[in-house]
Amino acid sequence: MKETADHAAREFVKIYGVAPRWIAAAPGRVNLIGEHTDYNDGFVMPMAIERYTVIAAAPARDAGRITLRSTANHEAFTIGLGDALKPLGRGKWANYAVGVVAGFLAHGLRVEGFDALVHSNVPLGGGLSSSAALEVATATLLEAITGHTLVPVDKALLCQKAEHEFAGVPCGIMDQFVSVMGRENHLLLLDCRSRKTELVPLTDPVVEVLIINTNVKHELTGSEYPARRKQCETAAKALGVVSLRDATLETLEQGRNKMEAIVYCRARHVIGEIQRTIRAAEGVRASDWPAVGRLMYASHDSLRDDYEVSCAELDAVVAIAQGIGSNGGVIGCRMTGGGFGGCAVALVKTDAVEEIKKKIAADYKKRTGIEATMFVSRPAAGATVIEA
Ligand code: GLA
Repeated sequence: MKETADHAAREFVKIYGVAPRWIAAAPGRVNLIGEHTDYNDGFVMPMAIERYTVIAAAPARDAGRITLRSTANHEAFTIGLGDALKPLGRGKWANYAVGVVAGFLAHGLRVEGFDALVHSNVPLGGGLSSSAALEVATATLLEAITGHTLVPVDKALLCQKAEHEFAGVPCGIMDQFVSVMGRENHLLLLDCRSRKTELVPLTDPVVEVLIINTNVKHELTGSEYPARRKQCETAAKALGVVSLRDATLETLEQGRNKMEAIVYCRARHVIGEIQRTIRAAEGVRASDWPAVGRLMYASHDSLRDDYEVSCAELDAVVAIAQGIGSNGGVIGCRMTGGGFGGCAVALVKTDAVEEIKKKIAADYKKRTGIEATMFVSRPAAGATVIEA
């Protein structure tokens, strides 16, 4: 994180001609298991990763304006604080930050103008929550600027609201929660209904988390995510429950004829995935790695077949990992995040990491013609202010 922050500070000086007064950082995340369960009141078990979005900032000469720049995008935005803030237009990177500023203003907090530079080493659009990292980094920066610290749950919810209202993505709560509340060496088991969290230690030195970026992103995600949410709501309604958290595989079977086949499949994924997440947490607590690995593969199969959010490239990575198998050091592997590209997550034996990376890279290239990128991450701490 230090390196990313130092880089942001140096670039800030080049662009704005002064040193930053505040620097805030928030991590991306990888979800070990519990996919598409958060908006169904279920469980998720992600961890923050050692990849960060950093924002360096200093007071603006004009206290009524915010300027947002990024090292990844030449498009800069200057926003007046006087009027009610509105989204900047579809697909604009700064929406995530502006939405968070709007949230602070809605809380009645006074925000003075500032100049900011965003710098990130979370792969953009790679399914590792680069958007949540930007939101949470912005919120953390604003805590420093206003001197007002939010309750962690409120901070995560404010960021989620920014994504809903300014980026138009009806996401669940997982990404923002873990970017705020992640802890070093721990997975975050989150009950998305009660919003209670449990830190599950992941300290066994024999295992590592390997993240494999397929480096593809299929563009249908815009409409597919809300469509999945709707299908889950339809299933819950047909079963007469508030959300799929309240259903079981038995009650689903009983109600099968009350819904379309596709809605039934979506619900079967969610209900099964909630159970798998609870069991995986037990497996991690007991260092029962083979059990955790089986649950990860089962999660992938269900996301591919019942939820239909995987893609050929993610399936290729998982098939390659499964082919290497436990003898070759792979414990389990699955797609992670929303799907349709982005990353897979694998739990691997520490002493086999380098060999596994080589095999996956070669085989993935052979099967798809694409270079995968890979890195290992320990569970990282959530967002923080760095001394400028
Ligand atoms: C995206 C959303 C999350 C969650 C995942 C799927 O990352 O932002 O809220 O729904 O997809 O598990």
